[in-house]
Amino acid sequence: MIIGVFDSGIGGRSVLAAIKRLLPDEQYIYYADTAHCPYGNKPLPELRHLVSADVDYLLARGAKLIVVACNTATTQTIDFLRQTYPSVPFVGTEPAVKLACEESAPDAKILVLATEGTARSSRLHALISQHKRPNQTVEVLPCPGLAAAIETGSSSQISAKLSEVLSALKIRSPQGSSGPKLAPDVVVLGCTHYSLPLPKSLIQTAFPKSRLVDGGDGVAREVARLIKTMI
Ligand code: DGL
Repeated sequence: MIIGVFDSGIGGRSVLAAIKRLLPDEQYIYYADTAHCPYGNKPLPELRHLVSADVDYLLARGAKLIVVACNTATTQTIDFLRQTYPSVPFVGTEPAVKLACEESAPDAKILVLATEGTARSSRLHALISQHKRPNQTVEVLPCPGLAAAIETGSSSQISAKLSEVLSALKIRSPQGSSGPKLAPDVVVLGCTHYSLPLPKSLIQTAFPKSRLVDGGDGVAREVARLIKTMI
């Protein structure tokens, strides 16, 4: 089966890698809309227009299932896509808030790094209200410009942009503790660009004691489940 996968740029390749690990024998078309990257700062009407063009491109090339390998597009347009293309099975990529809340301590500090679009989406805030346990803290940090730096910048530009966005962080170690200055227990990589190897390692260096999670493996499992229903 041909599986179409799209993102604003290279970020969705982190999702594609997770799907290919689970389903190595399927055929894949990856579409990166680099002409319009980043998506994270786009107004909703423009984003809807762009994702429709992405889907049309993949359908015209024979895709039978489409993976929205972009948190920004998923959190803001997945319902629109399902309504617009009712016969097409879609799998979206959402920030791994459920995983972070379920697999951490009842009083864990959880940080969600995301684009501006994802950070303000009602879908992300609904996920947090649904899964956050009463004593857990969840901070959402919008990271303007980080996906764009990952898309086209050098490693030092990515590193500089990451330091800039993290300077707005509120979750910190208790005063006087010897741990790192910034100390979430779990960091949710809520943009697929952040899960690529270089940005992921820079984020891990910024949060040496934190567990990093993303939605890639969950997307892969959902694709596998859907394919079984389609054969
Ligand atoms: N990689 C995408 C995401 O997961 C889009 C990043 C962007 O283009 O702003 O949100």
